[in-house]
Formats: sequence, C-alpha cells, structure tokens
Amino acid sequence: MLYLQKMNLKKYIQDIPDFPKPGVIFKDINPLLANPEATAQTINLLAKGLYGFNATKIVGIESRGFLLGILLAQKMGLGFVPIRKPGKLPGKIEKQTYALEYGEDSIEIQQNSISEGDLVIVHDDVLATGGTAAAACELIEKCGGTVVQCNFLMELGFLEGRKKLGNYALHSLIHY
Ligand code: PRP
Ligand code: MG
Repeated sequence: MLYLQKMNLKKYIQDIPDFPKPGVIFKDINPLLANPEATAQTINLLAKGLYGFNATKIVGIESRGFLLGILLAQKMGLGFVPIRKPGKLPGKIEKQTYALEYGEDSIEIQQNSISEGDLVIVHDDVLATGGTAAAACELIEKCGGTVVQCNFLMELGFLEGRKKLGNYALHSLIHY
C-alpha cells in the first residue's frame, strides 16, 4: 500500500515540442505512468468525483485511454470496455467516423459490450478537439447505453473540445 502525499501531477507530464509534427507540443504522460505514487494519486482523484453517478461501466478509448481507464475501472469495481481503432474487434461492431484536422478517422465498439440501460463513464487521457470523445459517446448511445460523464486526465482548453461535448457532464483533472 502506498502512502500518498498530495502531489503536483503536472510535474509528471512532459512537454515534447514538435511531436508528432512540427509546431505541436505533445503532452507525454509516460513519466506519470512510470511513477506508482503519481499514478495511484491520479486514479484516486479521477475516481473521487465518479461515485455519485452510479455508473455501470467504464469505456476507455484506444490506446492511451486504456492505460488509466482500466485502473479506474478496477478502482471503482466496474467492468472495462475498450473502444478500438478500426478492424481490431471481433463480432458485431458499431463504427463511428469523425473529422480530423485533415481527413477523418473511425473508432469501433463491440455491440454486446454495452447493454440497454448501462450508465457509462467515458475515459481518455486527453481532451483536445473533442472529436474522439464525441464519437465514443455516439457509439455508446448506438449500443443503448447512457453516457453519464466524459472523464479525462487532461484537457487542452485552447482547443475548445468541451464545445463538442456540450450535452455531457465532463471532468478533467489537469487543465492547460
Ligand atoms: C489522442 C489522445 C486522445 C485524442 C484526443 O489519441 O489520446 O484519444 O487524441 O484528440 P481529440 O480530442 O482532438 O479527438 P491518438 O489518436 O493520438 O492515439 P493514441 O491514444 O493511440 O496515442
Ligand atoms: Mg488517444
């Protein structure tokens, strides 16, 4: 068991300039994952605000949304459901396409991974433009679930992703 003092979690998120392309500052969460105290505190803080929702499932978005999403689901005693990039999931799937800065992308969920009446928390590491998370919410609703909160480790506020998630409760632990 770790004894956790209050930590400055931003210290564990590293700015990487010009990645993955020139002009972009990538927020690298690997230093946070490499530190068990920082990771445990992150999960405790993310979970803290979630108990009131009576959620039945946590959905994480491939791939970085899996890293903390699974830990969060375990912490809350809930099942974890992956949303994956195209062509990775077997069986009957729902697919949602969304716009990128240039072009488009898609994500998929297994139809039977969400049941009618499920109350779902969507977790991802970063809220940027909001396209990925909005598409994830659409997928969950197509399967009959209700999204009770969109939950992020960090939010890049200057990209205004919140606007795409206007109808959903939203929580981000760290703001830039
Ligand atoms: C990143 C990030 C979020 C998404 C946020 O994922 O992990 O999932 O982009 O962007 P948006 O709010 O503008 O949609 P990415 O597609 O880079 O893949 P990864 O998680 O597999 O690294
Ligand atoms: Mg991602």
